[in-house]
Amino acid sequence: MAPMADVTDAAFRALVAKRGAPDVYWTEFVSADGLYHTREIGKLPDVENPLMRDILKSEVERPIVAQIFSSKPEMITYATKLVAELGFDGVDINMGCPDKTIEKQGCGAAMIRTPEVAQQVIRAAKEASTLPVSVKTRVGYAVESLDGWLPVLLEAAPAAITLHLRTRKEMSLVSANWELMKRAVEIRNRVNPDVLLIGNGDVGGIEEGRRLAIESGCDGVMIGRGMFGNPWVFAGRKSDDTPLQEKLAALNELAYAFEKLSPPKNFSILKKHIKAFVTGFDGAAELRARLMEAESASELAHIIY
Ligand SMILES: Cc1cc2nc3c(=O)[nH]c(=O)nc-3n(C[C@H](O)[C@H](O)[C@H](O)COP(=O)(O)O)c2cc1C
Repeated sequence: MAPMADVTDAAFRALVAKRGAPDVYWTEFVSADGLYHTREIGKLPDVENPLMRDILKSEVERPIVAQIFSSKPEMITYATKLVAELGFDGVDINMGCPDKTIEKQGCGAAMIRTPEVAQQVIRAAKEASTLPVSVKTRVGYAVESLDGWLPVLLEAAPAAITLHLRTRKEMSLVSANWELMKRAVEIRNRVNPDVLLIGNGDVGGIEEGRRLAIESGCDGVMIGRGMFGNPWVFAGRKSDDTPLQEKLAALNELAYAFEKLSPPKNFSILKKHIKAFVTGFDGAAELRARLMEAESASELAHIIY
């Protein structure tokens, strides 16, 4: 399960867990600096802290990796210790997010341009706890630069690297380039064969993921948007295989779980799920438009049933 802000929250993860668990869950990303600045000295941060909600976890969804971001090693140290104390199974550092507000902090994809900082934060995370440390990144910034960038990461020896097979500049506008994975595997085998490589980008389902892993030689695959409207994806189901009533029931279940997140998130965040679940049948557009008006789980349920 790929980390996705405002998607892979505790409510969505629980929905997926019931329908076919992935091998590993990732949380949404969370700012290490934010966690630090809202800490309570000597105690775990307050459960009412929205940032803590973003790294909520249940015992059902295991193993689970918390994704954090910061360009400051001391913040990564703090957040890694916190994540370890909370009982996560791993910590992942985001080095691929193209969002300008994240990049302004020297984080996300901006790290591809500061290789020394990238190595420092990986080392800080590794020294902070015994948790496995992984990195999620892209194949380059403005242009593909695997030959330079990947060895930088491999030298710092994280347990795993997820490669989203696009550059920062490409955002998600072009198809993921799985051909690059073969070269990435060669580089990994040469520089640091102990590091696991996970491929990511445009994987629609489990079968396709297994085929891509075998063809490219990578160790695993991460599925992101393939989960939209299809919490059965890890059980091997294609989106079209699920009857409409079952999809609407899943959406309804998600809405109630979403509403229970504490502190609450804006109900409009559910809209991307509504769009994804309510599509591809006669009358979908009309039903979707009505569901988009709902401001609570009970309003949504009222429209569905
Ligand atoms: C709504 C949304 C939120 C995302 N949030 C994150 C995030 O918090 N951390 C991260 O590393 N990647 C994030 N991503 C990127 C995905 O994890 C993944 O790399 C990307 O969507 C490509 O994979 P896919 O084609 O399987 O979706 C996000 C993507 C989307 C569409």
